[in-house]
Amino acid sequence: MTKEELIQAFEKCFGKGGEPAAVFSPGRVNLIGEHTDYNGGHVFPCALTIGTYFAARKRKDRLVRFFSGNYPQAGIVERSLDALQYEKSKGFTNYLMGMIWAYNERYGLMADTGMDIYLWGNIPSASGLSSSASVEVGMGKVLNDLFGYDISNQEIALTGQYSENNYNGVNCGIMDQFAIAMGKKDHAIFLDTATLEYEYAPIALSGMKIVIACTNKKRGLADSKYNERRSECETALSDLRKVVDIKALGELDEEAFEKYQAAIKSPVHLMRARHAVYENQRTIRAVELLRAGDVNAFGQLMNASHVSLRDDYEVTGIELDTLVEEAWKIDGVIGSRMTGAGFGGCTVSIVKDEAVDRFIDEVGKNYLSKIGYAADFYVVEIGDGTDDLK
Ligand code: GLA
Repeated sequence: MTKEELIQAFEKCFGKGGEPAAVFSPGRVNLIGEHTDYNGGHVFPCALTIGTYFAARKRKDRLVRFFSGNYPQAGIVERSLDALQYEKSKGFTNYLMGMIWAYNERYGLMADTGMDIYLWGNIPSASGLSSSASVEVGMGKVLNDLFGYDISNQEIALTGQYSENNYNGVNCGIMDQFAIAMGKKDHAIFLDTATLEYEYAPIALSGMKIVIACTNKKRGLADSKYNERRSECETALSDLRKVVDIKALGELDEEAFEKYQAAIKSPVHLMRARHAVYENQRTIRAVELLRAGDVNAFGQLMNASHVSLRDDYEVTGIELDTLVEEAWKIDGVIGSRMTGAGFGGCTVSIVKDEAVDRFIDEVGKNYLSKIGYAADFYVVEIGDGTDDLK
């Protein structure tokens, strides 16, 4: 969508009256390092060129009005600065109102007038490509633009996570918002979630593509299962702390984990912690391998990541497993794994150029016959983080 098209769509809903602020906020895909971000580990995500477009203008009263080009049947959804609390029936607008609330909570910056906001996105819904974090971070930028705030993108990411945790009730880590706010074209972000130190690593996949396959599984209980995994890891950590002085599972390497693991009382919690520790080490190694130009070895670690998420972390399910196992059978697939929280959502695969069509065709056919409904495929590109739309 161009800036002109966006502004036209905005004016069709809200009328003319001064040029609106225009923002683009991407989705993200994580290449490796899953369920490590709330365990003080490393992640390796990148921003995509698909995302959410916003046009927004201040109002003179205290109404906050939203129109989503993706849900036109909902019409204009009206909220107010005088009723900032979460309202389940107001759907996606909670991600936006949550940011207004969080700016006030974290910085004492309270919007002093209402606003009209048009948004439209091309991130497939419920895909696990972080459409909600895309909306949160984009809204942060909109608030900066409309009210002249000077909150940095890294701070917006933290505020997005704060809002998701405390307003929307999902105990997510920092990965999604960080990747979206800080993304850089053709680079992935190697982020240490314990310190927020990060480095950009070029993703020069010559002769290869990143292919995302979406299960199209309904989301169901994903949020509550996510929170459950997080608390399982916390219990494992508190068991371990009786025998070793650590603040997060990410501080252990494989050897230390093997040494202390007997302190974890429940066998299920042991599996969860083993994933968190091994996945973190795998991520560190994967980035080293990629930097050394060994894409094949990177792909092997992607595959190992999936196995660990399937067997130890138990967040895959038949749909994601089918997509990945069918992908592994295709000649020209460098690596394939689930990405994001799991329980549905998408897989990410690195596929040689000449194999992409065959990949989509065969994985798609076999998925349909096994699962009973179709998967969707997207050949994606790595884009920049949230910014004004040029
Ligand atoms: C979701 C969360 C992230 C991260 C991933 C799993 O996307 O929002 O913080 O925990 O799941 O790696």
